[in-house]
Amino acid sequence: MGKKVTRIGVLTSGGDAPGMNAAIRAVVRTGIYHGLEVHGIMRGYQGLIEDDIYRMESRSVANIIQRGGTMLKTARCKEFYDYDGRKKAYDNLKRRDINGLIIIGGDGSFRGAVEFSNEFDMPCIGIAGTIDKDIYGTDFTIGFDTAVNTAVEAIDKIRDTMDSHDRIFIIEVMGRDAGYIALHSGIATGAENILVPELKSNIDDIVSSLQEKERRKKLVNLIVVAEGDGFGGAVEVQKVFKKKLPKAEIRVCILGHIQRGGSPSCLDRLIASRMGYHAVESLMEGRYNVFVGILNNKMHYIPLENAVKNKGKISEEWMKIVKILAS
Ligand code: F6P
Repeated sequence: MGKKVTRIGVLTSGGDAPGMNAAIRAVVRTGIYHGLEVHGIMRGYQGLIEDDIYRMESRSVANIIQRGGTMLKTARCKEFYDYDGRKKAYDNLKRRDINGLIIIGGDGSFRGAVEFSNEFDMPCIGIAGTIDKDIYGTDFTIGFDTAVNTAVEAIDKIRDTMDSHDRIFIIEVMGRDAGYIALHSGIATGAENILVPELKSNIDDIVSSLQEKERRKKLVNLIVVAEGDGFGGAVEVQKVFKKKLPKAEIRVCILGHIQRGGSPSCLDRLIASRMGYHAVESLMEGRYNVFVGILNNKMHYIPLENAVKNKGKISEEWMKIVKILAS
């Protein structure tokens, strides 16, 4: 159990994710409910270092639950990698008597929080917010559901034109280190192949299966590729395909940042609200340096350190399902 928390800061860091605003709202309102002063920190760790911090009231978070992006803005802050940057951040919090910090972000942001809380006396609580869903110890991260639904909607549209023209489409979705968006959106749209960073794909096998499909006149084939797959993304995959399938009509579509925007889904608003609430509860109960995750629909507090040390795994069984269903 730690010291009593009276004044907290909240920030969003790394790539934004739909639902972050709902989490900020939950933190601010739960904090105020407990009689805490809540301070919003702009642009993640960057604003912490630059002392870009302001007091938030209940009304500050009115009318944001349905909005994508983050009202606190976000950044990937290089300065926070260095001790000097983190010291500046700590001094700013200290001067303002802020004695608890809530970080909404992904594994990179959590890595920063681990360093920070090891070096300085500042209770930190993480909230898992990333479209990539690549945080160990939680079934959900804020933004994944919206992003994957955006991808599915886009791929469905592409399928209409792909089907009309008898084409092979290679669609690249986000995920530098994680293939969950590719896997979920690929299965949901009936992809023939899904390429993810976590598993080594055999391009020769994929080409032979496409050649076999070409022979039996199955010319419409959807390949979903995570941006961080072993081949270097959709454009690289297309180069290989073009050489080996000269007759095929092949097109590429990179969905890109469209997946990060838009109004959060009901699920993302819900988990963001629950996680925001529990993050403040955790600080109130003196449970520090953990992040709030959901496992089997129950809230869990997982040491921040565990989140950054462990990597998620893509189940081989899911890939087997893809193969069987795509025949
Ligand atoms: O936040 C996660 C993510 O969207 C990844 O899927 C992607 O690789 C990366 O961020 C892109 O980051 P940026 O917007 O900084 O280019």
